[in-house]
Amino acid sequence: SKVPMAKDPVRVLVTGAAGQIGYALVPMIARGVMLGPDQPVILHLLDIPPAAEALNGVKMELIDAAFPLLKGVVATTDVIEACTGVNIAVMVGGFPRKEGMERKDVMSKNVSIYKSQASALEQHAAAGCKVLVVANPANTNALILKEFAPSIPEKNITCLTRLDHNRALGQISERLNVQVSDVKNVIIWGNHSSTQYPDVSHATVKAQHGENHVRELVADDEWLRGEFITTVQQRGAAIIKARKLSSALSAASSACDHIRDWVLGTPEGTWVSMGVYSDGSYNVPAGLIYSFPVTCRDGEWSIVQGLSIDEFSRKKLDATAQELSEEKALAYSCLS
Ligand code: NAD
Ligand code: LMR
Repeated sequence: SKVPMAKDPVRVLVTGAAGQIGYALVPMIARGVMLGPDQPVILHLLDIPPAAEALNGVKMELIDAAFPLLKGVVATTDVIEACTGVNIAVMVGGFPRKEGMERKDVMSKNVSIYKSQASALEQHAAAGCKVLVVANPANTNALILKEFAPSIPEKNITCLTRLDHNRALGQISERLNVQVSDVKNVIIWGNHSSTQYPDVSHATVKAQHGENHVRELVADDEWLRGEFITTVQQRGAAIIKARKLSSALSAASSACDHIRDWVLGTPEGTWVSMGVYSDGSYNVPAGLIYSFPVTCRDGEWSIVQGLSIDEFSRKKLDATAQELSEEKALAYSCLS
């Protein structure tokens, strides 16, 4: 027949769904921004009891928006009900950073949440569930989730550094006055923190014929190795200072980008940044959730191999790995 078969709905869990990012994210998912314009979804929304009424308000608005792709909403404060049968889990629940705090200052509150939610996901999510941790400290929360959900394949547990990646694309686009969609292959290495390394060594801008290297177009190594890096590293703090709230619409949009590319694949010749379980590539210690350049195909990511790393970059890759090792130790000390 010429009429394509309707796809089965995908169940997407959003934790912390009554919060700021949740409020920006759930309508994007319900409109097909995350999984495509022909993919029906059922949203599972989790929050804690003090936010139950607000969560119910979000559910009411989702119904009121009459999204054609939205086939159901489960809004609950019960972790098991929330996790049951989910194919994708976007973990936003937790306590956000306030002005003057580092992301690791929210560590002890958030790692204990991720330990307990790991078990619920492990026992109740659908087989093959893909997990994206957004809540800070994102890499370390994802690592704790991985460690306490040993039957979920490590390839299925990731954290969000796509926002940093997109911030880097945005800064290059502004500097060169080119379309952001023509800039590609920046890299965020390491932690979603102020030690992350935004790297443009391999980044390009689309030209009439082929591509030009960002390094040659900018032709100002001092800016690329200085202000560009610190602007991206400090962007989260700058948003908090300006809004008195941490980033939300850009975080939600980047979370959709992360899942969409993971599930539907990255375009030919393009990589993106994802926080994934390190296998020792680029001499990053194995056993950390570290942001790497990845390509995705058939629902699986792979780390882009063979990129040259100069001495300047090497130091930066190592410094952010060092911070992640320290965070890992600190997380374990919070749990014991
Ligand atoms: P928010 O405070 O507005 O929302 C968080 C929600 O989580 C609240 O509704 C809260 O009730 C809920 N919550 C708390 N404990 C929970 C639990 N155990 N289970 C379920 N829900 C729980 O915060 P926000 O601005 O939406 O930010 C959410 C998180 O995302 C923060 O940790 C923030 O730092 C982080 N963040 C990460 C990135 C990134 O790029 N990785 C970007 C922006 C924000
Ligand atoms: C961000 O990068 O905007 C978030 O991680 C919020 C924060 O604490 O910086």
